[in-house]
Amino acid sequence: MDLGKLKTTAGLDLEAKRVLVRADLNVPVKDGKVTDATRLERLVPGLQDLAKRGARVVVISHFGRPKGGPDPQFSLKPVADKLGELLGRPIVFASDCVGEPAERTVAALSPGRVAVLENLRFHKGEEKNDPAFAKRLAALGDLFVGDAFSTAHRAHASTDAITQLLPSYAGPLLMEEVEALRSVLDSPARPTAAVIGGAKVSTKIPLLTNLAGKVDKLIIGGAMANTFFLAEGVNVGKSLAEPDFAKTALEIMHAAKMRHCEVVLPHDVVVASKLAEGAKASTVAALEVPPDQMILDVGPETVAHYASVIGQCKTLVWNGPLGAFEVAPFGEGTFGLAREVAALTTAGKLVSVAGGGDTVAALNAAGVTDRLTYVSTAGGAFLEWLEGRTLPGIAALARAAH
Ligand code: 3PG
Ligand code: MG
Repeated sequence: MDLGKLKTTAGLDLEAKRVLVRADLNVPVKDGKVTDATRLERLVPGLQDLAKRGARVVVISHFGRPKGGPDPQFSLKPVADKLGELLGRPIVFASDCVGEPAERTVAALSPGRVAVLENLRFHKGEEKNDPAFAKRLAALGDLFVGDAFSTAHRAHASTDAITQLLPSYAGPLLMEEVEALRSVLDSPARPTAAVIGGAKVSTKIPLLTNLAGKVDKLIIGGAMANTFFLAEGVNVGKSLAEPDFAKTALEIMHAAKMRHCEVVLPHDVVVASKLAEGAKASTVAALEVPPDQMILDVGPETVAHYASVIGQCKTLVWNGPLGAFEVAPFGEGTFGLAREVAALTTAGKLVSVAGGGDTVAALNAAGVTDRLTYVSTAGGAFLEWLEGRTLPGIAALARAAH
């Protein structure tokens, strides 16, 4: 995939043009209220730019995972309201993303105004990447802007098939995400480090394998580290681990060694007899976990060691927490390292890029999100990129006609 082929709308005359923007409005909503608007906030400058240029802006998105038909609990209406609030201008909402309601809404939309259409996944054709459904969407625009990096790992009608039907461009948020990830993986300032945490080796094998060939230091945290300990014959007590993947962990360590990549594991760990708020916790050497205890976080020595390894590097990519950060006191390792990474970044010593659902929540809890070089809004798409995979939604934009 030639990313150089991604084109933006810069310099195009958009006056009175119907611009169909595929955004990712899939944000957490509780009791009809958006609880984390990060993805919406990041979209706003791009939408504002289109509106200022006189475009008739038509935003399309999925929301949640409805079963291929209309379902009020997956309506985009509350999200559209929040987006309007952030844009500081009223938004027109259409009760369907194709057909009469959508056509009527778009026909009545004046230049400089923004419309949001109802959830794309209320139609089966969306997830099937159905050309006939894409054609109904394409009828609503003069040109298409793909600005949903976090949905780019899905080959759906609104991310893939549609790019064959309209002149198609990459949106500013998508470009920003792609550039941030390229800066850490394609031509980074070396040495480079990756912090990979989370619960399971099994879900991150392709990612660990790909990174082992790319970075100089592969720093492992979270319950995933326990499987690496098992592989080395270390007793992990009652800790969460995947014995079936111990062999895989050994293979990853071997592959890393062959490529002169150092795998860095915890020195000391925080243990307790159960994962519960306020559980009695103690810090022990990773080699001395008592049989009735489980590892729930990395210890302070480990944080200091990880920070010094990262301190020797110029570039860092981070995915996954180092412990059970949602449950106090087992977030201290993740928060401590997050503060160190933020300090190195603000001192101009480190380029730091982080992403993935839990990671962003952990960085937010540590209060450092704004102090990293870039924090991606993507979950699955960020992981697939780190795995070295081609994201269909980006490949489609790269090969689209303009
Ligand atoms: C996400 O939140 O990861 C994206 O919006 C994609 O959603 P999906 O996993 O339901 O396809
Ligand atoms: Mg997802």
